[in-house]
Amino acid sequence: MSVGPTLLSLDVTHAETAARLHMEGQPGTFLTRLGGEVLTVLYRTLPSSAGGFGYAAVAQPQELLGFVSATTQVGSLFWEMGTRRLPALLPPLLRRFVRNPALALLALQTVTYPLLHPADAVPAAELLSIMVRSDLRGEGIGALLLAALRAECQRRALPALEVTVAAANSGAQRFYQRHGFVCTRRFVLYGQPMYRYRAVLSP
Ligand SMILES: CC(C)(COP(=O)(O)OP(=O)(O)OC[C@H]1O[C@@H](n2cnc3c(N)ncnc32)[C@H](O)[C@@H]1OP(=O)(O)O)[C@@H](O)C(=O)NCCC(=O)NCCS
Repeated sequence: MSVGPTLLSLDVTHAETAARLHMEGQPGTFLTRLGGEVLTVLYRTLPSSAGGFGYAAVAQPQELLGFVSATTQVGSLFWEMGTRRLPALLPPLLRRFVRNPALALLALQTVTYPLLHPADAVPAAELLSIMVRSDLRGEGIGALLLAALRAECQRRALPALEVTVAAANSGAQRFYQRHGFVCTRRFVLYGQPMYRYRAVLSP
């Protein structure tokens, strides 16, 4: 008899594997191009930052099959990474910028984007990433993770869950649409067309 994955709150112990799954699931994207060390700092920071939360789908013993991460305060996450986590973040980030200066400009867009779109500052949760190990996709792990995240958003009385998806990522868009997300906006970020999806949460 096969046993399904166990869902745990995303925490610092998942950071390194989450970074690996992120790079595998989002090849060629801006965050992936920043590299595993930077992503590991991100996933170490997120669960303990104000408004940050997520879930890990694990198999015994503690093997990470997939995860979802979200925050209600993107600004706090950036603030924490730019202050308390800076000693860990700066060396790998600078190494990347030296190798590829264009990444520094894209990093600036990441920080300025929420400031330039105050309409997004409604009290919704932002789904930052959802990744399932490539050999396990299509088995319902993503649906399990999203259901847990949704339930937690409802418990926190958040009115909506939002996510930005690359227009080219049609698989993820199918996934979100199937789970009640509706496209609300199209825009360009990092020079790439993006869609903003929103799921309204019932109280
Ligand atoms: C999107 C993702 C998290 C879904 O997880 P999952 O465990 O495969 O999802 P489920 O099994 O619950 O649902 C399967 C559905 O996901 C979507 N999907 C997207 N990419 C898929 C893939 N490579 N394989 C299978 N399903 C995929 C499809 O809509 C699929 O339904 P369908 O086969 O009927 O079209 C997963 O495919 C993934 O990790 N993709 C790469 C990372 C990514 O793009 N994340 C979103 C960033 S915004």
